[in-house]
Amino acid sequence: MLKVEQTFYPPQRVLQKAQVQDFEALYQKSISDPEGFWSSVAKELFWFEPFDRVLEWNFPRAKWFLNGKTNISYNCLDRNLNDFRNKVAYIIVDEDGNESKITFGELKNLVSSFAGGLLSLGVKKGDRVCIYMPSSIEAIIAMLACARIGAVHSVVFAGFSHQALKTRIEDALAKVVITSSYIKRRGKQIDTLGVVLEATKELNFVKHIIVSGKCPENLISFESLLKSNPVEASSVDSEDPLFILYTSGTTGKPKGILHTTGGYMTGVYLSTKLTFDLDKNDIYFCTADVGWITGHSYLVYGPLLNGITSVIAQGAPDYPSIRRWFEIIERYGVNVFYTAPTAIRMFMRHGEGFLKGIDLSSLRVIGTVGEPINPEAWLWYYKNVGLERCAVVDTWWQTETGAHMITTIPSYPAKPGMAGKPYFGIEAKVVDEEGKELPPDTPGYLVITKPWPSMFRDCFNEPNRYQEYFSIIPGNVYFTGDIAVRDQDGYIMILGRADDVLKVAGHRIGTMEVESALVSHPAVAEAAVVGKPHEVKGEVIKAFVILREGHLPSEELSKELKNHVRNVLGAVAVIEEVEFVQKLPKTRSGKIMRRILRAIEKGQDVGDTSTLED
Ligand code: WT7
Repeated sequence: MLKVEQTFYPPQRVLQKAQVQDFEALYQKSISDPEGFWSSVAKELFWFEPFDRVLEWNFPRAKWFLNGKTNISYNCLDRNLNDFRNKVAYIIVDEDGNESKITFGELKNLVSSFAGGLLSLGVKKGDRVCIYMPSSIEAIIAMLACARIGAVHSVVFAGFSHQALKTRIEDALAKVVITSSYIKRRGKQIDTLGVVLEATKELNFVKHIIVSGKCPENLISFESLLKSNPVEASSVDSEDPLFILYTSGTTGKPKGILHTTGGYMTGVYLSTKLTFDLDKNDIYFCTADVGWITGHSYLVYGPLLNGITSVIAQGAPDYPSIRRWFEIIERYGVNVFYTAPTAIRMFMRHGEGFLKGIDLSSLRVIGTVGEPINPEAWLWYYKNVGLERCAVVDTWWQTETGAHMITTIPSYPAKPGMAGKPYFGIEAKVVDEEGKELPPDTPGYLVITKPWPSMFRDCFNEPNRYQEYFSIIPGNVYFTGDIAVRDQDGYIMILGRADDVLKVAGHRIGTMEVESALVSHPAVAEAAVVGKPHEVKGEVIKAFVILREGHLPSEELSKELKNHVRNVLGAVAVIEEVEFVQKLPKTRSGKIMRRILRAIEKGQDVGDTSTLED
C-alpha cells in the first residue's frame, strides 16, 4: 500500500480557473508569517470590533483573534445579504425526490425569529442546546439560531440510541433539546421524538423540548417558535464557545470537542473556498450528515460563509436507488461534490453500469473525507464520477481540527491514496515516539507542530483529556492519533489510527465504548473488540467475548449481543461478528492486547508477545 505509482495532474479546465495557481508560494507565505496570513483571512469576514492580537499561544492552549467581536451567524447570513438576498442557500431533496429551496434572505429571517424564540424560552449566552435532528433546514436553523445569540449547540447524530443521547445531554447539561417528530429513512419512519423522550425522562435540568413537525401539546412546537420576534446577531468574543461535538476516544466515554467562534469561522471559511476552489456560481453537494463535523464545517458553516448554494440529499445513499446522488448531480448541475470513501466503495461494487445515461459533466472538483481512500477506489471515482476531467481532493482532518489539515487542492497533482500536503498555515510532521522527525517513506506518528485557528479549545468538562493530545509525543506537538508516512515530494499518506479507535464506514467508534456496552449484558464477563478489514466499510467490528458462568455460546446469544450493543450505542455501532472465547491475550497489568487479536484476524505475525500474561 505504501507505493503510489501514479500522479494525476490537474485537468486544464480546472487549473485554468483555479484561485490558487501557485500552491507552494502561498503555503510558504502562510507558514513564514502565519499571523499575517491568518489575520488577512479573518479580515475578509465581518467583525463588530476588530481583534487586536492574532494569536496567544500558551502551549497547549491557543487563543485566536484576541478581543475581536463577531458572530458566525451574522457572517453566514447578514453579511451576504446585500449580494445574495434572493440567492438559494440550500436545495433540499428528500428520499422521494421532493425538493424544497430556501434563499439566504429567507434563511436569515427564519434564523432571526427562531433565535428570538430561544431567547423567549430563557436560553442565554453560553447555555448548551442539544440538537437531535436529521440533516434538514430545521437543524441548520437551530444551529445558526444558537450561534446568533451566543448559545452553544451540541448536535447529536440522529442515529444514536437514547442512552447515547442521554450521556451527551447530561455531559453538556443542555437545558433545551431540539428534535423532529420523526425521521424518514428507507421509506420507514423512525420515532426520533420517542428517543428524546426516553433519553430525557430523568433529566430534570432539561427545561424545554422543541419539536419540529407533529408536536404533542406539552412540548414546544418548532414551527410556532419560527413566528417569534426576530433578533439581531449578538456580538460575541472571538474565543466564546460556538459548539460542542461529541466524538469517540480511547475510553468508554465520548469526548465533548469544544470549538470557539473566530478561529473556527476563519478556518472553515478559507478551506471551503480553496480546497474546493469554489466559484460564487457553483452548486455544491456535500453528502455528510449535520451530526458529524463534516456536516458542521462543510455543509453548514463553510458554504454559507462563502455564500454558496448547497444541495442536501436526505436519507440513505442507495435508497430508493443507487443512482440517486448522481441523478441529483445531473438535475442541479452540481460542480463540487464531497463524499466519503465508504460510499465510493459501495458504488464501486455495483460496477459502472448504473451511471449510464447520467450526465455528470457539470462536476469540476470531487472530494473525499473520513478515512483513507484506497487507490482502487480513488481511480474508480476519478474515472467514473470525475470522467477523468475533475480534480480529486482527498481531505484529511478531524473533529478536533475543525477544518482541512492535510489535503490535495485542485491546483497541484494528486496521488491516489495519499491525502496530500499540509494545508495553508499548517505544519505537520511524521515522527517516532520520541518526537524525532522520520525520514521520507518511513511510517510514524502524525503530529501538528503549530497552533491553527480552527483547532479545538478543550474537551468539555475534561481539560485533562485535552492535555493528553499534547503530551503523548514529546516536543510540544499535537498528536493526531494517526499513523502516516510522508514521501519524497512531501505528500502524506494516512495509514490508520494508532490508538484503539475504529473507523467503521468513516464513523469514529471507540473500542472501549463497544466493550463497555457488551459487558453491560448479563451474559458477558469480558469482551475485546477489534476492527477487521472490510471491502466497503473499510473496517467492521469483531468482538471476542468471554461468557459468564451458566451461559453457553450460541447463534442466538451472538444475535442478542449484537442487538444489545445496537440498543446501547445506536445504529452506528453494529457488530459484524462475535467469537466466544475462553481467554483474552492480556499484559501482566491486565490490559487487553488488541494488537494481538488484530494480527490474528488479519492472519499476520503476532509480533513480540514477551509482555503477555497468557
Ligand atoms: C479521523 C478523524 C474529518 C471529518 C470526518 C472524520 C480519519 C479523516 C481522512 C482522510 C485518511 C482520514 C483519520 C482521522 N480520516 N479523513 N482523508 N484520509 N484518514 O472525522 O470522526 O473526527 O475522525 O478520521 O483517522 O484521525 P473524525
